[in-house]
Amino acid sequence: MQPSNDQPAHPSLLDSSCPLKVGWYGLGAMGYFMARNIATSGRAASPILVCNRTVAKAERLVDEIGTSNAIVASSSAQLLTDCDVIFTNLATDEVVQRVYNDFAKTLSQSLPTSPKIFVDTSTIRPSLAVEIDKLFSGFSCCHFVAAPVFGPPAAAGAGQLTIIMSGDYNCKRKAAHLLIPVGKKIIDLGGNIERAPMLKLICNGMLMSANDLLAEALTLGEKSGIGAQAVYSLVKEIMPAPSLIIYGDRMLNERFDGTGGCAIDLGVSVLDHVRHLAAELNCPMPTIDITQQSLITARSIHERQKRTGNSRWDILDCSALIASHRVSAGLNPFDCDDHRVIRED
Ligand SMILES: NC(=O)c1ccc[n+]([C@@H]2O[C@H](COP(=O)([O-])OP(=O)(O)OC[C@H]3O[C@@H](n4cnc5c(N)ncnc54)[C@H](OP(=O)(O)O)[C@@H]3O)[C@@H](O)[C@H]2O)c1
Repeated sequence: MQPSNDQPAHPSLLDSSCPLKVGWYGLGAMGYFMARNIATSGRAASPILVCNRTVAKAERLVDEIGTSNAIVASSSAQLLTDCDVIFTNLATDEVVQRVYNDFAKTLSQSLPTSPKIFVDTSTIRPSLAVEIDKLFSGFSCCHFVAAPVFGPPAAAGAGQLTIIMSGDYNCKRKAAHLLIPVGKKIIDLGGNIERAPMLKLICNGMLMSANDLLAEALTLGEKSGIGAQAVYSLVKEIMPAPSLIIYGDRMLNERFDGTGGCAIDLGVSVLDHVRHLAAELNCPMPTIDITQQSLITARSIHERQKRTGNSRWDILDCSALIASHRVSAGLNPFDCDDHRVIRED
């Protein structure tokens, strides 16, 4: 990580001699693996404290890696009293905002006497990062770092995420040291807190649209009689991007369960942020609008299936946006077997 021009946050944050006490809030599809990798890395003053709305997930993590690596926090407030670095990975802006407002309330009731670094790894709108940064600047020894991540849950499990960071340089250094077992690369975007969330949204929008285009091509392959598999195999040869490979595999094999992937609601909400950013900066991104429509169409088909008890998945994955193209092409939305070879010569 290259240094930006930030001033040191607090002298004790420069002291790298003793490991820091770590807390983690949010153990969903991504957070579970990220917390697990930090907890088992030996980089934190073990065990790390873990917290989640559904406590069973925190208990499952502790069962998996043992109490020498992680302990379930009695409450989110305990993360603040006991930890030096508190990571969060949460579903939406609303949740992130609520959790950080609660943190601020707890801090104001009992002012911290030692430095605390808060690192949010969720995908949030850049202006929310600014709001949280301002909120925390009111507490003299608290600092906020934005650190959104790239990669699916499988990459989180394998410690292969790409992490983008913005915020105070010394706080980022501390956080980056802890995040090494989580990612294959950490990119420093400097001191301006909104930069990392902004880059995350720009690239997320592009990736999601690339997947929408892939869905169109697979559908056309199916209709042509060549088959979606042939299209997918060639895409892997000529454009072997991890996102296309992973999403293409899900589309081909109907792996539309969003619980271990990226839930379609998250996709719709992230594209909302991208569209908002594009409008704010007067930079039209029409393909993003179209991709969001594909997601919404797939979601509405899925919701109707759920209502009639015909859905195989409780939570739909973003890769299911292919349903929108299948339906437009006169095919079954989610069931590939119905139309594996459409045209025969
Ligand atoms: N999935 C991906 O491929 C991917 C990739 C990169 C980045 N991300 C980003 O990572 C973040 C998490 O995504 P995910 O896929 O891990 O989502 P997820 O599986 O739905 O997990 C969301 C987390 O937020 C918590 N949460 C939801 N509502 C809450 C509330 N009202 N109060 C407190 N906690 C609440 C959940 O707690 P419960 O367990 O109790 O529900 C869970 O810990 C998002 O910002 C997403 O954009 C996801």
